[in-house]
Amino acid sequence: MAAYKPVRQIKSSEITDPEVFANRRKLLRMAGYGIGVSATGLLPHMPALAAAPELGDLAAWPGSTDETQTSWEIATSYNNFYELGTDKGDPQRNAHLLKTDPWSVEIDGHCEKPGTYTLEDILKPHALEERIYRMRCVEAWSMVIPWVGFPLGDLLKRFEPTSSAKYVHFQTIMDPENLPGQKSPVLSWPYVEGLRMDEAMHPLTLMSVGIYGKVLPNQSGAPIRLVVPWKYGFKSIKSIVKISFVDKQPDTSWNLAGPREYGFYSNVNPTVPHRRWSQAKERRLDSNSGGLSSLFSSKQDTLMFNGYEEEVASLYTGMDLKENY
Ligand code: MTE
Repeated sequence: MAAYKPVRQIKSSEITDPEVFANRRKLLRMAGYGIGVSATGLLPHMPALAAAPELGDLAAWPGSTDETQTSWEIATSYNNFYELGTDKGDPQRNAHLLKTDPWSVEIDGHCEKPGTYTLEDILKPHALEERIYRMRCVEAWSMVIPWVGFPLGDLLKRFEPTSSAKYVHFQTIMDPENLPGQKSPVLSWPYVEGLRMDEAMHPLTLMSVGIYGKVLPNQSGAPIRLVVPWKYGFKSIKSIVKISFVDKQPDTSWNLAGPREYGFYSNVNPTVPHRRWSQAKERRLDSNSGGLSSLFSSKQDTLMFNGYEEEVASLYTGMDLKENY
């Protein structure tokens, strides 16, 4: 396996660098996003576009993995997005049923600045970066994806959470009229997820708006989703419409569906098996391994915290990770 370089924390001065801002605006204009870019804003509204437009050159995260990337074709055709169906191909097939324009995110709970923010409001002050993360699904397959986004913590700070905010709760769009999966009781809807406040503020935790330098396609969770690379994929909730600062550990969809199988923490941990299968190994879906046919090829070892142990292990000091699975 290729070496993993430890992440570097981006300083706030780098995030707010006016040159970076100006450059991004230029790139977005070049990408055809010129109309509607405000004097201060970087990103105009991002409509759901089938032909996912380029986002231009992006600053690469120095801690990105240099392992072989999964291809765009696999990453956008082999998805879990139960609102669009439970088969791996359903999200791509039904992607057009997810309406992402207009889009807003409601912020509530223990914070000084609750409210309903348009997608432009949410994105405006944030410079986008590219981060190549491994993603490990609880179903024991994994991908390497170049995500485009910005740290969730930078967004959360803007709403000034109070000391009562111990956890962050996320909710996906609820639209049973259009989203076929929400007509079935396969999960209790809307899809919800949660993180402890320190996990949410960790610099690896990303709000993503794109992949492979392009705007997120709907099946990947447009227009804005979470990416938590040291946790099983289901924690990375898609198409977020609400973020709540709460004082108690919140409900999560998969924990509600199967509390003995899916815990709140769901950290990638090869030493703690799922109740029905081992988590010690994974099948990597990448371009070299024959793409989806690698589902039937050899497995590689799963790394503790998905290989991000150096960065995140301290969040769990003193916790029994078998109890807190
Ligand atoms: N978010 C919502 N709203 N609905 C879902 O069904 N599936 C989760 C997660 N986020 C899901 C979701 C699961 S199980 C996984 S593995 C990842 O999304 C898959 O992300 P990907 O399709 O981009 O690989």
